[in-house]
Amino acid sequence: MDFSLNEEQKLIQQAARDFAQNELLPEVIERDDAQRFPKEEIKKLGDLGFLGMMVDPKYGGSGLDTLSYVIAMEEISKIDASTSVVMSVNNSLVCWGLEKFGSEEQKEKYLTKLSTGEQIGAFCLSEPEAGSDATSQKTTAIDMGDHYIVNGTKNWITNGGTASTYLVIAQTDKEKKHRGINALIIEKGTPGFEIGPKENKLGIRGSDTHSLIFNDVKVPKENRIGEDGFGFKFAMKTLAGGRIGIAAQALGIAAGAYEMALKYSKERKAFGTEISNHQAIAFKLADMHTEIQAARLLVYQSALDKDNGKDYDLSGAMAKLYASKVAMETTVEAVQIHGGNGFVKDYHVERLMRDAKITQIYEGTSEIQKIVISRSILK
Ligand code: CAA
Ligand code: FAD
Repeated sequence: MDFSLNEEQKLIQQAARDFAQNELLPEVIERDDAQRFPKEEIKKLGDLGFLGMMVDPKYGGSGLDTLSYVIAMEEISKIDASTSVVMSVNNSLVCWGLEKFGSEEQKEKYLTKLSTGEQIGAFCLSEPEAGSDATSQKTTAIDMGDHYIVNGTKNWITNGGTASTYLVIAQTDKEKKHRGINALIIEKGTPGFEIGPKENKLGIRGSDTHSLIFNDVKVPKENRIGEDGFGFKFAMKTLAGGRIGIAAQALGIAAGAYEMALKYSKERKAFGTEISNHQAIAFKLADMHTEIQAARLLVYQSALDKDNGKDYDLSGAMAKLYASKVAMETTVEAVQIHGGNGFVKDYHVERLMRDAKITQIYEGTSEIQKIVISRSILK
């Protein structure tokens, strides 16, 4: 399989790298400290065409392939994973799901604004009692003829406070279990829809995570995505692609930490020589470099599977499982290579280490990826 990038993909990579260096790096530590959402930066990312990268240009998107998207995700994540999670949710969970399964009216009304970044979207599946066990939805969407009445609570929703358009998964017919679940588009400001307090997190602190509360929220029938009962399939199919985006985020976090550790090891001296001349440090760098490249190949493979119309449930889950493990291990080692400096904020690697952890939790924990992978290879 040929993983070499074409000229357009190289340009996208360079544009993302420049954006991360020039626009994200300068205040990334302050945003993390203050848990400040990258509002201006997201606006600029939208202007660059990075919020609807895979969407057809007729709906305001950039019309690019998945490989271009993961290349951009890697570069943005090297510097700021709080920004890249906003990018990932908007691109692969919200825009992709709407373009693939939404009606023409839904695309015209919502997709164009979302793919240009005029608005941001949120994907709302998790609940207090339905995280990994996603079919156990307690939020209800009762069918009232021409509309649904939605009640319940969603947890941990990325872009929870900043989004305008929310794709909400809810149970309509309990008897039918997961086949009685629907996906509804709910607009911010709809009466009865409240946004809970912002979570105070270990990592990706610049991102905006909230619970959402629905009290008798009236949602028109035309806001249902797909046929009655399609909601759980919608969530699973959308998440299969989303996991490729999070795998690319994990890859970027690992690669960012490695690049910083490599540079530092060639500058810092101990025992009369650069620390990179100590084999213990050189071998850490060798392991990091090898594992990052292996993760990159899995991420690219899953993106190409998606672009080539092949099944990507398995390759996406493998990419996320492996890249998130590499992100965690690489960032821990990057802190170690930085010594005491690794433990303070100015050197960035401690933040990357904190950010890496979430890639093993959201969009399906590592244990859930192993369920997806093992079911696929055993079936
Ligand atoms: N594509 C299409 N359909 C799928 C599917 C897929 N990839 N995976 C499962 N399904 C379908 C199954 O075919 C089945 O439908 P039928 O009975 O009609 O065939 C239905 O979904 C239920 O499947 P299972 O019986 O396999 O369900 P399960 O209860 O065993 O759970 C699971 C499967 C994979 C563990 C699933 O619950 C899961 O993915 N859990 C993790 C949830 C998750 O990833 N949440 C992420 C939230 S979003 C987020 O986190 C965003 C962010 O942070 C930024
Ligand atoms: P649980 O499901 O309670 O899992 C707890 C532990 O048990 C985990 O280690 C898990 O792997 C393990 N476990 C559970 N079931 C099994 C099993 N069958 N076999 C083996 N081990 C198992 N959700 C959204 O819908 N939208 C979002 O935008 C979103 N953004 C998020 C942002 C952040 C910062 C965070 C922290 C979460 C976000 N989530 C979002 C939720 C996220 O997807 C869930 O936290 C995740 O799916 C795990 O669910 P849980 O937290 O309920 O953990």
